[in-house]
Amino acid sequence: MYDSANLEWLQQQPRVVLGHGPTPLEPLDRLSEELGGPRIWLKRDDCTGLASGGNKTRKLEYLMADGLAAGADCVVTHGAVQSNHARQTAAACAKLGLPCHLLLSERVDWPFESYRRQGNVLLDKLLGAQLHIHELANSSAARKNLLAGLADAGQRVYEIPAGGSSAIGALGYSRCLLELLNQCAAQQVQDAMIVHASASAGTQSGLVFGKSLLGVDCQILGINVFHPDPQTLKDRVQNLAQGMHDLWPQAKLQQPFDIEVNHAYLGGGYGQPTEACLDAIGMAAQLEGILFDPVYSGKALAALIDQITLGNLSHLRDVIFIHTGGSASLGAYVEAFDA
Ligand SMILES: Cc1ncc(COP(=O)(O)O)c(C=O)c1O
Repeated sequence: MYDSANLEWLQQQPRVVLGHGPTPLEPLDRLSEELGGPRIWLKRDDCTGLASGGNKTRKLEYLMADGLAAGADCVVTHGAVQSNHARQTAAACAKLGLPCHLLLSERVDWPFESYRRQGNVLLDKLLGAQLHIHELANSSAARKNLLAGLADAGQRVYEIPAGGSSAIGALGYSRCLLELLNQCAAQQVQDAMIVHASASAGTQSGLVFGKSLLGVDCQILGINVFHPDPQTLKDRVQNLAQGMHDLWPQAKLQQPFDIEVNHAYLGGGYGQPTEACLDAIGMAAQLEGILFDPVYSGKALAALIDQITLGNLSHLRDVIFIHTGGSASLGAYVEAFDA
């Protein structure tokens, strides 16, 4: 069914197992019935296991393998103050016994105390990471100071970009695509259209690269929750997928990259919950008992709900939503739910 040389190549790439897998593919029948559109299937990457789960676990499995192979004895990564990636990196480091430094930039205008203390920040601290919170404008100085200090202390640093979105990290989502397509075949899920939240683009570029690598026919739609315009996200996905191709020329692409982005659901910007997002979170919680977050997965779910309500997906029997996690940040946004 898939290109066998590429399949073998993908299965042989070094990774450390950090999460639970395969994550379930579950139908959301009460939500689907409420909306009256295609049957919604949820790929439960919120259940990857690493300190409340999320999409970064799959990326970290490849990144940590790379770091350990390079002899790293310490990890540095980047993100917003409520970064889910930072929290999962802290958890991965705890599991592997590596010191973890989180460079967290104040890039979200959410002026409540809970944002700086609750949610992922609380978990980062519990997981033993060292937090370096700084203003966005000071990011490069903060990074330089931290790296210089660690080098002086004789540490061998493995630095992971924001979101774990390098070519190596993104491979986690090529592997996820394979896992998902196998589940679709086993569970008779048709017309695979895949919808997910897209920000630093590692998830989407991994899926897009995986599609091209395996030579499969499925639609992948990234919902932009970060970039001020859709082209920037498209370019990021293209560059990362191309970066994967450049890094692994032995993996022969079967078709050109197919990149599709929807920009209509960003609202007031990254980290600013929209009304539709808060409604979507409430619907999923009350109809399915599943938690989404106000920054990423909730905005993407709001997009899916709206597209179904508009009738734009009525040609499909099934639609797949990858739940990329994020509910750890809910407590940091308590004021959004007070209204
Ligand atoms: C919960 C959640 N969903 C989706 C995303 C977006 O994934 P990516 O950064 O790979 O585009 C992120 C991270 O940025 C996230 O934390």
